[in-house]
Amino acid sequence: MQVRRLQLKVREIQPKVRGVCITARVRGMTGSADLVIVANRLPVDQVRSATGEVAWQRSPGGLVSALEPVMRQRDGAWIGWPGVAEDEVGSYDPFTEDGLTLVPVGLSGAEIEEFYEGFCNATLWPLYHDVVAPPEFHREWWDAYVRVNRRFADRAAEIAAPGATVWVHDYQLQLVPQMLREMRPDVAIGFFLHIPFPPSELFMQVPWRKEILEGMLGADLVGFQVSGAAANFVRLTRSLVGLRTHRDMVMTQDRRSVRATAYPISIDVQHFEKLAGSESVIARAAQIRRSLGDPERILLGIDRLDYTKGILPRLRAYSELVAEGEFRIGETVFVQVATPSRERVQQYQVLRNQVDQFVGRVNGDLGALGRPAISYLHSSFPQHEMAALYRAADIMVVTPFRDGMNLVAKEYVACRLNDDGALVLSEFAGASEELSRAWLINPYDINGMKSTILAASRADPKDTTRRMKALRRTLRDNDVAQWATNFLTALEEMRQLQ
Ligand code: F6P
Repeated sequence: MQVRRLQLKVREIQPKVRGVCITARVRGMTGSADLVIVANRLPVDQVRSATGEVAWQRSPGGLVSALEPVMRQRDGAWIGWPGVAEDEVGSYDPFTEDGLTLVPVGLSGAEIEEFYEGFCNATLWPLYHDVVAPPEFHREWWDAYVRVNRRFADRAAEIAAPGATVWVHDYQLQLVPQMLREMRPDVAIGFFLHIPFPPSELFMQVPWRKEILEGMLGADLVGFQVSGAAANFVRLTRSLVGLRTHRDMVMTQDRRSVRATAYPISIDVQHFEKLAGSESVIARAAQIRRSLGDPERILLGIDRLDYTKGILPRLRAYSELVAEGEFRIGETVFVQVATPSRERVQQYQVLRNQVDQFVGRVNGDLGALGRPAISYLHSSFPQHEMAALYRAADIMVVTPFRDGMNLVAKEYVACRLNDDGALVLSEFAGASEELSRAWLINPYDINGMKSTILAASRADPKDTTRRMKALRRTLRDNDVAQWATNFLTALEEMRQLQ
């Protein structure tokens, strides 16, 4: 792996673009990065030890797991928030961590509340996920969203080299493409939305709906996880912004063409295969099985603790199967890993209490001494441990009410080196479009989920193998490197077209 470090310079820059003059004294790189990733989070979060020492730990979520290998293969800079509140907001010195060039953007405590926890995760997140929780609309949250988007755009404008490629990510930064284009018309701008993009009936609720669409239209290429989301976007640019469209092309008022297409994200398949085949992961998987009492069957759920993930209906379906005698304690165990997430947002606190209570009740009612029905872990694990869990699990249960893609489903498939194991997958996860040979379920239909989990657990091993082989083939055809190449090639084509 070769990562060429970006030149670190101390200088004053005064780029003049379309009459806008940005004066910034930046200690670090200025205008030297040919590829710039702009995402809400850096791939690492800053943590402070009890003695006050600063350390970095991998940040949560699918976006980071997907983009990190992409950045390791390319030379570029990653702009993002280090996950903590800063006394002074603004831009901080770039630094290199584990071979990646990182450019921190600071958020104040108030901005974390209003931008991150507020507009991003209590307005946009529930709205874009089919309103599974009611979204809240507050004008001061929107103001913070505009302010923080501006800060990210300014930082990208400072560090991008002339004619660079800037790739902006996700719902937290939908205004960045347009803001950046106004300052730097010379750069190619791509935008990728990692989460679903809702149909017009839901999107129309947002008081700032036109501003958001116009923000995204600053990009040359707008990528989505599935074609339905891209179609929703194109339709809205027609009906709400009044633009002309042709298939996946939108013609903007400033006479540019913006392409909106699906690029289903993936994982670093080889990396997971290698990890799953390593001696230490094989040994750890065997140890996990033993520590669970050598059951016949292990069911596994791994999710961020999020109300979109359908954790409760999945555990309900399983516990009913146990109560009805279809699964017996000791023979079967459900391991549920729930990674702590957005813990200060009220809906997440409500969910945590519900899951805690539900697991407690099921284990109290159905478990035996030293043999819980559900082995529940509220914590995050390194990839090595995740790979061991994937190896140990006979059935992976992924049941979101709505999900942009769901990379956990893909990671499980990648780790099944012997073509065994069953993937039970929600038809409302983006991944179900590619992984159609999984055991598909509707998370709103508890009985349907029960019968599918049972069918998966009693399937003829030949059928299980056939399905897993097909899933693995599909996955190998589109790994994360392929995804990034597809997106960046299409972006380059759009640059030529403009
Ligand atoms: O994929 C959706 C997403 O919000 C990513 O943008 C993010 O990295 C991940 O989920 C985890 O969320 P958060 O950054 O809020 O912890």
